[in-house]
Amino acid sequence: MTLTTKTTSPAYDEKAAYWEKWAETMARQSHRFNEPLLEAAGVGPGRKLLDLASGAGEPALSAAALVGPEGHVTATDASAEMLAGATRRAEQAGLENITFEVADMHALPFADDAFDALTCRFGLMFVDDPVAALSEARRVLRPGSRLAYMVWGQRRENTLHDVMKTVVPKLLGESGDESGVDGAQFRFADEGSVAPLMVAAGLDQVEERELRLSPRLDAGKPFWRPNLEMAFGAKLETLSADERQDIETAVVDAFAPYLKEGAYHLQLHARLACATAPG
Ligand SMILES: C[S@@+](CC[C@H](N)C(=O)[O-])C[C@H]1O[C@@H](n2cnc3c(N)ncnc32)[C@H](O)[C@@H]1O
Repeated sequence: MTLTTKTTSPAYDEKAAYWEKWAETMARQSHRFNEPLLEAAGVGPGRKLLDLASGAGEPALSAAALVGPEGHVTATDASAEMLAGATRRAEQAGLENITFEVADMHALPFADDAFDALTCRFGLMFVDDPVAALSEARRVLRPGSRLAYMVWGQRRENTLHDVMKTVVPKLLGESGDESGVDGAQFRFADEGSVAPLMVAAGLDQVEERELRLSPRLDAGKPFWRPNLEMAFGAKLETLSADERQDIETAVVDAFAPYLKEGAYHLQLHARLACATAPG
């Protein structure tokens, strides 16, 4: 496994320890997102897959099992710290058909036509110039290869993120300013917001699909803790135990309206934008 060290994503470097801490828990719930994403990109045995913005390792690690020993996954991210966590996870899982490279989506360090499938889960929202990033993706793909990008749908239809973003920043004394990395999360929430960018990048067979899930989560379990720490971990470390307890109590209270018959009823809404690299 290889890992270069340049980093261009300081906001995510800061979050990396918390993402790695919760990565296995999150990965166990990942199949609901990964299955449609990997299928849309045509990922299967023998494929040479490029995964962009791999973060703590999904969907890259799951894809490694799918492409098998004849295939290969190249996992990339602008944050060296995030990718270091993903590398450790792959080593622990004994995966031998995956390599890691720090790479900004705007300027991929790969030859033309190097891959035959491409995925990006919840990363496109964070790039400065999405058309430039999609053009780079087209460049490194063999003609006829499939690309699939997953982005978040509407914030109000993503209960977990919506409640956390409503409750926690205020208690941390943050402005709730949506201009930073956390604000970009719902940049492509509107239907039809990615497809025109793909067309502008010269991609073919462009299509957007919706993914709606209604998870039911057991009452009494702090299902919100991974999200709390992954989003706000560094800031929480600076708080006293009482201050942190106040935040956790406020979070539990904010989820109370979603509790029915012993389970929390939440919603998830994502969009899947797919295309084909032109011949
Ligand atoms: C929300 S995380 C998604 C990680 C993972 N794919 C997942 O779904 O769990 C977004 C990732 O995008 C990465 N990122 C942000 N800007 C990027 C860029 N310009 N090029 C590559 N990765 C970038 C961040 O470092 C971060 O790891």
